[in-house]
Amino acid sequence: MTQLDTAVSLEDLIRATVPRYTSYPTAPHFSAEIGADAYAGFLDATAAGDGPISLYVHIPFCHSICHYCGCTTKASRRYAPIEAYVEVLRQEIAMVAARLGRRPVSHIHWGGGTPNLLSAAAFEAIVGDFHRLFDIGADTEHAIELDPRHLGEARARFLASIGVNRASLGVQDFDPVVQAAIGRIQPAETVAEAVEHLRGAGILSLSFDLIYGLPEQSVSSIRRTVDAAMALKPDRISLFGYAHVPWFRVNQKLIDASKLPGTEGRLELERTAHTAIAAAGYTPVGIDHFARPGDAMAEALKARTLRRNFQGYTTDRADTLIGFGASSIGKTAAGYAQNVTDTGNWRTRIVAGQLATERGRALTADDRLRAEVIEQILCFFDVDLAATAARHGADPSVFAADLDKLAPLVQAGWVTLDGGRLAIVRHAAELARLVASSFDAYLGKGGRHSVAV
Ligand SMILES: C[S@@+](CC[C@H](N)C(=O)[O-])C[C@H]1O[C@@H](n2cnc3c(N)ncnc32)[C@H](O)[C@@H]1O
Ligand code: SF4
Repeated sequence: MTQLDTAVSLEDLIRATVPRYTSYPTAPHFSAEIGADAYAGFLDATAAGDGPISLYVHIPFCHSICHYCGCTTKASRRYAPIEAYVEVLRQEIAMVAARLGRRPVSHIHWGGGTPNLLSAAAFEAIVGDFHRLFDIGADTEHAIELDPRHLGEARARFLASIGVNRASLGVQDFDPVVQAAIGRIQPAETVAEAVEHLRGAGILSLSFDLIYGLPEQSVSSIRRTVDAAMALKPDRISLFGYAHVPWFRVNQKLIDASKLPGTEGRLELERTAHTAIAAAGYTPVGIDHFARPGDAMAEALKARTLRRNFQGYTTDRADTLIGFGASSIGKTAAGYAQNVTDTGNWRTRIVAGQLATERGRALTADDRLRAEVIEQILCFFDVDLAATAARHGADPSVFAADLDKLAPLVQAGWVTLDGGRLAIVRHAAELARLVASSFDAYLGKGGRHSVAV
């Protein structure tokens, strides 16, 4: 990492609000023009191909809602709503599979919410459907997001028995004062036991989610959190910046905003955690991930095959991601499609035999080109603009206005331009997001995002 003496201060740069680009165009720019008919067309176009696809299953239920949570989920203490949801999910899977045909599956990902709330019978039924309707092989990666507070030894063994081979655990922060402030009481022993159960069951690829920028966090507390996380030797770590969007997620109103660190404080927390994780031997991956050397994600970074999608960074190279469940987002070569967020409306649509797509985006040639540029910047902190344009049959001059926007960063020495190759000098998340945003043709035309750091 190079420290630069520059006229443009980093703080000036990071005050801008820019997306994290888990898609391009980003979700705030999806349009209601993409509904069930358009998605049916996307699926039919996909069915004409034969490459592998990936499957995402959204489970929007949790025991209780953590104050900080920005995910699309709701609290359910009773199992009946979850059982009813699973029944409709299976109908949706059958409906989509009928259009796609039996395709090889590269990745399966269970996200939420808290997928580990599903009963064993529900998991068996859905995984059974996947095996019947798709081609799931021994090399299919099968990942799940798990809340360590709801994971016993028997459940870990069960997950392994249905083929789960990768898990990410919501660790967030180990400090009891921070945990109280964020409404997520989770003793360190709970996480350690969850790790032991998963490894004992043979689920060996483990990732931890940590968050910086939380209320009551200090440089010393986040340092202790990182040390405690390192002691459990996860294969990967995601270090997310807390996105405080109380106008959008009402549960976040329970966070005392006066206890949140300011911009500089957030930067310091991120730097502290980042430095400590890297010092423990992890390879920084993109803007917010870390992987042990030798892990598939660290290897994908080296080989420049790393990708970025709605789940963040991934080694998955499938170009099609099919989303199932309320609010899930899928991507095909033709475009993005997002399901209705409200579970009741989603159910009504599926039960009526209709796809539940509510919004999305058909991709233009320019969208595809910019999506690749943005993905490379966020994965590798550099991009060969000339080569990327050539791959898309475009002239590099298409980026002239974007490069004009970047001129102050180039003058300040934060970004270099050498022939057609752009590189970010300092591998900092906030810079990568800002540089990527220069290539976003939709930015500033509606949508609201959290701060870059
Ligand atoms: C679906 S949850 C993970 C699984 C499980 N529900 C849990 O909490 O353990 C996905 C992750 O998103 C992250 N997250 C949730 N809300 C966030 C926010 N407002 N800002 C940043 N990260 C957030 C957390 O790290 C969380 O672990
Ligand atoms: S962080 Fe996880 S457990 Fe907490 S509300 Fe969000 S999805 Fe549910």
